[in-house]
Amino acid sequence: MHPSLSIVHDQPLDAFNTFRIPARARHYLRVDGAQQLDAVRADPALSGLPRLVLGGGSNLLLTRDVDGLVLHMTGQGRAIIGEENGKTLVRAQAGEGWHGFVRFTLEQGIGGLENLSLIPGTVGAAPIQNVGAYGVETRDVFHSLTAYDMASGAVRTLDAAACRFGYRDSIFKHPDGADLIVLDVTFALPAAWQPNLRYAELGNAVQEAALIAPTPNDVGLLVEAIRRRKLPDPREIGNAGSFFKNPVVSSAECARLVGLFPNLVHHAQPDGTFKLAAGWLIDQCGWKGKHLGAAGVYHKQALVLVNLGQATGQDVVRLAAAIQADVAARFGVALEPEPVFI
Ligand code: EPU
Repeated sequence: MHPSLSIVHDQPLDAFNTFRIPARARHYLRVDGAQQLDAVRADPALSGLPRLVLGGGSNLLLTRDVDGLVLHMTGQGRAIIGEENGKTLVRAQAGEGWHGFVRFTLEQGIGGLENLSLIPGTVGAAPIQNVGAYGVETRDVFHSLTAYDMASGAVRTLDAAACRFGYRDSIFKHPDGADLIVLDVTFALPAAWQPNLRYAELGNAVQEAALIAPTPNDVGLLVEAIRRRKLPDPREIGNAGSFFKNPVVSSAECARLVGLFPNLVHHAQPDGTFKLAAGWLIDQCGWKGKHLGAAGVYHKQALVLVNLGQATGQDVVRLAAAIQADVAARFGVALEPEPVFI
C-alpha cells in the first residue's frame, strides 16, 4: 500500500455515525484533499475496493460491517471568497461541521443559511442530500462545488444544474455520480437579505418573539429553538434525523385520501402533486413513542427513529419495515427511507 497513506484496519465506526450503530470498517482513511484520493487511485490494493464516503455519518444506517474502504472526509477550512451578481460567495471544505459553518456566516452578518441551522452532518454532505429545512434547501443557496472523480482522477467543478438537485436527492445518489467525491462547496448568499418565513412554524416563532426587523442571526436562533424542541440531539439519543422522505402523491390520490382522512396533512407542490407528512401518517398508525427491541420512534416526532441504547442496524431495519407495512395497509402510501442503508 502507498507509504504516505495512514490506512487504519478494522476501524470501529460507532463514533462516526449519529445513530451510534456498532459496525467496523475493514479499511479506513481520513481524507482532507485530492492528494490522498490520487494515492488511493494509484494503489492497486486500494483502488478496487468497495468504497463508502463518510461525512458526519448523520444520514447513514449501518446494517453490517463495511468490507471495503471508508473514506472519511475531514478537510477543514472556510472563507468568504468574493462577490458575484449581488451575492456573497462563501466556501467551505467538505469536512467542516455544517452547523459551525452556518454560525460562521451568521456571525459575519451574512444571511441565507439561517433556516438550515442545527442540521447535523458536514458541509460536504449538504449537496448530496440537498438538505433542507423550514422552506430552504441547499440548492436555493448553492453556487458550485468541487468534486474528485475516482474514475478518472480529475477534479471537476459542478454548478447547480450539474448536481441535478431534487427533494433530498442529487446526482451523487445516482450511478452516474457514484464516483464523485465532494471536496468543497461554495454558497452564494444574498447581500440584500430577506427572511424566509414561509414555513408557518418559523413565521409564528418570529411573531411570538415580537421581532419587528429580525436579523439573520435572530432567525437562526429561532430555528435552533424549534429544532431543539422537536428533534433529538444525536449526542444524547442516536438518530439520523427524518428516517423517511415525505411521500409525494398525485392530486387524485391526495383527494382520495382526504376523503377518507379529512385531517390528512398535505401540501400542494408547484408541479400539481401533493406532499404528505410522513410523520403524521406514522403518528396515526400509533407508532409515536413505541419501540421494537432497542430501536424506537421518537416520542416528540414520529418521523425520527432512535437508538434507545443498544440497537443494531438490523433492529432499525425491522422497525422501519413494520412502520412501512402499517402505513401501506392503512393509507396505501409507500414510505421511502431517507438515510443511506449500508
Ligand atoms: N406530524 C404529526 N406527528 C408527528 C410528526 C409530524 O402529526 O409525529 C405532523 C406535524 O404536525 C406537521 C407535519 O406532520 O403538520 C409536518 O411535520 P414537521 O413540520 O415537523 O416537518 P416534517 O415534514 O416532519 C420536514 C423535514 C425535516 C425538516 C422539517 C422542517 C423531511 C423528510 N423532513 O420534516 O428534515 O427539518 O421538515 O422543515 O423532509 C431531515 O431531513 O432529517 C429533517 C429533519
